Amino acid sequence: MLPEHSIEVAFWNMQLGGLQMNYGYPDRKSDQSMLVQITEEYQPIVEVLRTKRGSMTNYNYLVVDSFSRRAVIVDPAWQMDVVEHAMSQAQASLEGVLLTHAHADHVDLAGVLSEKYGCPVWMSTREIEASGFSAANLVGIDESDWWIGGMKITPILTPGHTPGCFCYLIGDNLFTGDVLFVEGCGICPDVESAYQMFESLQRLKREIKPETRIFPGHSFGKAPGLNFTGVIRENIYLHFRDKKRFAEFRQRHVHNREKFFEFH
Ligand SMILES: [Fe+2]
Repeated sequence: MLPEHSIEVAFWNMQLGGLQMNYGYPDRKSDQSMLVQITEEYQPIVEVLRTKRGSMTNYNYLVVDSFSRRAVIVDPAWQMDVVEHAMSQAQASLEGVLLTHAHADHVDLAGVLSEKYGCPVWMSTREIEASGFSAANLVGIDESDWWIGGMKITPILTPGHTPGCFCYLIGDNLFTGDVLFVEGCGICPDVESAYQMFESLQRLKREIKPETRIFPGHSFGKAPGLNFTGVIRENIYLHFRDKKRFAEFRQRHVHNREKFFEFH
């Protein structure tokens, strides 16, 4: 049994700005392996990629382990050239695709990237079952943590927008797809889903640290990366105390297919 926060690594000792770090990454070829602690100060690099097709604008996030350059990408869509340019600039090795949910504007490039780079596509098992989504190298996952290099990936089940939506916590960064925007939250298909969304947002308020940076799938004004304290200040959907009042407010518009992607 490995102690919490420890991984098997090829070890490095590094001096960064006066901070001594014991750091490493899994290297199956190395016979020099040991257990080290990932320091609290360590944070991955988050590359914010704004991509467009037609009227759709999405945020994709390339998350890079700053030492090993191993990387994952969250909800890749629309512009392969933008994604690959970012990977090249970051000297990143793509290790997997994290999908928050199965809507087309969040999964558009998942299969293409998976086939080209031979990496898994992760989505919640519940979302796969609810949506029927399929892609090359698709892996259904639950809320168990796992590591890519020095990055601990923690999926958080947050249904409401869809039945199996995940947010992903990596370091002090939360990738929220269409669950939580700076200015609002994702649409819900019916009242029961709105109740689920209320519970999901309450869970985030209980579990996410104030300094955590929030990276949504879309922006409706504010740039991605505002901390959770700032999002709570901006976002009326995080201030309801009663699920019925929340659902009444959330469902106050009649949605139609043309306005499917509108959040408010
Ligand atoms: Fe969506």
